[in-house]
Amino acid sequence: MKSVAMFDAKPYDREAFDRANSGRYALRYFEAKLSVGTLPLVEGCEAICVFVNDEVDRPVLEGLAARGVRVVALRCAGYNQVDFKAAYELGITVVRVPAYSPYAVAEHALALLMTLNRHLHKAAARTREFNFSLVGLTGMDLHGKTAGVVGTGKIGRVFCAICQGLGMHVLAFDAFPDAKLAGVTYVPLETLLAEADVVSLHCPLTPQTHHLMGAKAFAGMKPGALLINTSRGALVDSAALIESLREGRLGGAGLDVYEEESDWFFEDRSAVVRQDKALALLVSMPNVVVTSHQAFLTREALANIAETTLANLDDVFAGRPLVNEICYRCQGQAQAAGMDCPGRKQGRCLG
Ligand code: NAI
Repeated sequence: MKSVAMFDAKPYDREAFDRANSGRYALRYFEAKLSVGTLPLVEGCEAICVFVNDEVDRPVLEGLAARGVRVVALRCAGYNQVDFKAAYELGITVVRVPAYSPYAVAEHALALLMTLNRHLHKAAARTREFNFSLVGLTGMDLHGKTAGVVGTGKIGRVFCAICQGLGMHVLAFDAFPDAKLAGVTYVPLETLLAEADVVSLHCPLTPQTHHLMGAKAFAGMKPGALLINTSRGALVDSAALIESLREGRLGGAGLDVYEEESDWFFEDRSAVVRQDKALALLVSMPNVVVTSHQAFLTREALANIAETTLANLDDVFAGRPLVNEICYRCQGQAQAAGMDCPGRKQGRCLG
């Protein structure tokens, strides 16, 4: 039986994977994240399985290759943590779960929007203290307002439909617009930022999208607009975000991700001195709601993640074509755009 080292494994991962595995792999669960320091844990494993904040850079990949690991299975959709060039050069296959439940993430974006707009976080804290005052809790009708959706892939298009259900006008920006997406008007990013009352980010983190929301973008937003980020933290320049909130230009932010989240998220850090000044400031702001990268966390999504990850490993070990391999050259962009990458056709990129 092949062994798989499961890094950054939480009780909910264990439950979903044990159920989906039904004994076909020896799954070795480790609470530790993958890094150079935790490489010895992979001894005897043919594959490893990692999540969003594990380090899959060149030194780690070299360590994996030296220990005979041939496969890195990401149990997530995003893949910005991986050095694909190094993986390709070392002959390590990288597979992911491109889609598990776009509803889980889009619905969490809605939850953040509703919480922020109607100040539910403050209201719940008040009523718990028997404070029934409504002062400071005024929100806006979303009906008739404009949503700006950045990235209309699997999650973004579900969020567009949710906004349409609320009676909002939907503007979108995407590197590969989908002309068939009904009721959505594609505009340049600057127009979207200038006109949207709510901006929600649903594009991947790539060199092109790093700090997509920087000082210039915030300055171009409609005053009082709300920003929702359930995608990746580094799409947003945290310093520019804080400045825009301080100036009162941005109305509020709902953040499920944060650019330096790997040091803090997913763990109980309540007894640790809050060294990250930006994060400490953001969580203390009344018009900011932060969740700990939990948008994926539904029963349905966890089951899909486990089933697809194990099916990916089955395909690798059986030598079957890999539908969920990430190609080094296009890094998933061709697949996301519904295009065919020549590298993927051959199982891996030869570029
Ligand atoms: P997807 O690949 O289906 O869609 C991404 C869309 O972004 C595509 O339409 C693509 O054309 C567009 N895009 C790519 N580069 C762009 C650019 N430079 N500018 C504008 N648009 C661009 O991905 P999916 O499944 O919708 O996921 C989106 C992101 O959500 C993931 O990359 C991941 O980072 C994040 N995510 C977050 C989760 C959470 O728990 N918070 C869970 C799952 C995904």
